[in-house]
Amino acid sequence: MTTGDCFLVRPGQKLAGITAVPGDKSISHRAVMFGALANGITRVQGWLAAGDTEASLAGIRALGIQVERYSKNDLTIHGGPFQPPGARLNLVNAGTGIRLLAGIMCGQPFPSVLDGSEQLRRRPMKRIITPLRMMGADISGVNDRAPLTIRPADLQGVYYEMPVASAQVKSAVLLAGLFAKGATAVVQPGPARDHTERMLCAMGADIVTEGSRVVLTPNGDLKPLNLTVPGDISSAAFPLVAALLVPGSDITLTGVNLNPTRTGLLDVLRRMGADITVTETGLEAGEPVGAIRARHSMLRGVEVGGSVVVEMIDEFPILMVAALAAEGETMVRDAAELRVKETDRISVMAAELAKLGAQITETPDGFIIRGPQTLKAATVDGHDDHRIAMSLSVAGLLADGETTVLDAKCAGDSFPRFAETMAGLGADISERALTPP
Ligand code: S3P
Repeated sequence: MTTGDCFLVRPGQKLAGITAVPGDKSISHRAVMFGALANGITRVQGWLAAGDTEASLAGIRALGIQVERYSKNDLTIHGGPFQPPGARLNLVNAGTGIRLLAGIMCGQPFPSVLDGSEQLRRRPMKRIITPLRMMGADISGVNDRAPLTIRPADLQGVYYEMPVASAQVKSAVLLAGLFAKGATAVVQPGPARDHTERMLCAMGADIVTEGSRVVLTPNGDLKPLNLTVPGDISSAAFPLVAALLVPGSDITLTGVNLNPTRTGLLDVLRRMGADITVTETGLEAGEPVGAIRARHSMLRGVEVGGSVVVEMIDEFPILMVAALAAEGETMVRDAAELRVKETDRISVMAAELAKLGAQITETPDGFIIRGPQTLKAATVDGHDDHRIAMSLSVAGLLADGETTVLDAKCAGDSFPRFAETMAGLGADISERALTPP
């Protein structure tokens, strides 16, 4: 990706204007994987060409699937039977990539090995290994982590109650269910994002959601789709929060996915007193889409816990920044999942924001922040975690001088051209390549 090695951030400029954000990462992963499974040619426009999704696309190609690219964001996928890959499939940093592809690979008549970066190798895989083995899959990891070795096995449907609300686990099980004998049911303890269910349903799969239970009954070929990927609300979150926090700001983000399993941040920010207006404009890829307008607001602290947590699970790093600017206490609980993302996002954000002078109290499943706090400029580190790097950049907009965010290249894992997009809205964020010493 073309993001620089570090971001330089200076405060003082308001954000204004209208812009679109890149395509939704979750939907883009699914579009290439499910397109590969379809019987026919899938057309995808607005596809997110970012580090994580390119890893899934490379995986699909390594399985012999032909993909034509008309531009970075516009492609066709020729679905068909997979060929055995010549080497291990490298999903780099993509947790969604490896977990969903593992579900699919368990149903194939040839062995495969799924691997990734050192960061991905640290992430827990037992959460998919356990239910996939219940289905009869032959899958094992190294201490329940990647690399994952998968061998052909006959799969049976399963009734699986997930211990954590995870869309990746739900999706891995449902995808394996496509290759199983009998129906597969997944019960979720919270409303995890439902892009898999929506897309498989649009492709003609027999998939039904009844309350917290999703049931898939294999019914033959999947139909190819022609879809436009809506903008990613998890990317919109960064300019959105920046506009709320920087005085005088007023921005509108267009074409954003408003799927209710993803909009928890909007609900929490509104409770904090944020001036946010949402205008739904239609449906894309079976998902509600619209414009979000955000204006500078005086925020107050809130309590966050329960089912909203999974609906904003990727937005807690940026919520921490909003909480630092808010009057009073923000207390987050039920969010222990943050500790097993690309990094331990509670500890890493607390440590990096401390370099900017912030005080954050960590708890096992969340954090407490008393605001407002003043931030001083410093050099901070993105830890090869895209959402950390972008959240720290927004924090830099509130500091008293120039902040440097090191290891910021990872922003391109989900938000290519992050710095340019923010700068286009008026924020003083630029990227700089670091030359080796
Ligand atoms: C994702 C699900 C979430 C989220 C991740 C993308 C998906 O992970 O954090 O960024 O596309 O299914 P979990 O399912 O592990 O909560």
